[in-house]
Amino acid sequence: MIYLNSRLVSDKMANVSVYDHGFLYGDGIYETLCVYNGKVFMLDQHVERLFRSASLIRLSIRKSPYMIKKALYATLKANRHKDAVVRITVSRGAGPTGLDPKLCSKPTFVIFSKKFSGYPSRYYQKGVSIAIVSTRRNFSRSLDPQIKSLNFLNNILAKIEAEDKGAFEAIMLNHRNFLAEGTVSNIFFVRDNALFTPAVKVGILDGITRKIIIDLANEAGIKVKEGYFRLNDIYESQEIFISNTTMEIMPVSKVDDTKIKAPGKITVLLQGAYKKKVSTYIKERVSNEHK
Ligand code: PDD
Repeated sequence: MIYLNSRLVSDKMANVSVYDHGFLYGDGIYETLCVYNGKVFMLDQHVERLFRSASLIRLSIRKSPYMIKKALYATLKANRHKDAVVRITVSRGAGPTGLDPKLCSKPTFVIFSKKFSGYPSRYYQKGVSIAIVSTRRNFSRSLDPQIKSLNFLNNILAKIEAEDKGAFEAIMLNHRNFLAEGTVSNIFFVRDNALFTPAVKVGILDGITRKIIIDLANEAGIKVKEGYFRLNDIYESQEIFISNTTMEIMPVSKVDDTKIKAPGKITVLLQGAYKKKVSTYIKERVSNEHK
């Protein structure tokens, strides 16, 4: 079942107009969330970011955060999904052709979920490969990477390059050749026992997983440096990993032609701390239900 606008409908009935500006122009926003044992991880943070993206493109979602959370759980219940990935998509809606948002009177709102219980374990045991691609991350003043928008061609072009090179994920630099992020992930690397990650102001999405990792590293007494980094910084690192909501912390064993030990010591430590964070979060939500 799919939640479309204001109700649950079957897959077959979940149709969106060919005049939808999400389809015509990529005019819209989305969020991807992970569900563990029936509980949506970091739900408030994802819904908050959805509203931030909406506000940055001046889109009125016309639903409260509470309504969205209710709709999300209703979708999970209807599908009997306990371990799943959920996507919330909001587009500008259907309207005559033309770029003016006022042409669309009502946004299109969709939630769908699919069963998911993680990537193959060998990705975590052996690590994945990444390629530094020539496609640059969108310049913030062209299309701010902080907007989690449906306009994904920047990332798709980077992904195509990674595919050509046989790599799992593409890593983009920003327009000034500073390390930015992956097509669907943030990047971290370790040097001399300190953790490095590009600063948000480089022009990246401030990943919710990224923030958790920074907090966990700080709690564990690992030095964290957010900043502007060059390619050499990553080639010379001892550990690399990428992160997002569904990957969590995924070790990298190869960057272009350079091999990296995976998973490294700090990566493993943070993976353990992340798992613990997820299970505490879920347990708290389950026990609150019984109060
Ligand atoms: N992608 N950077 C980009 C460009 C992303 O698209 C994502 C998430 C991230 C990591 O954000 P988070 O930790 O909040 O998931 C960073 C999601 C998973 C997606 O595209 O489906």
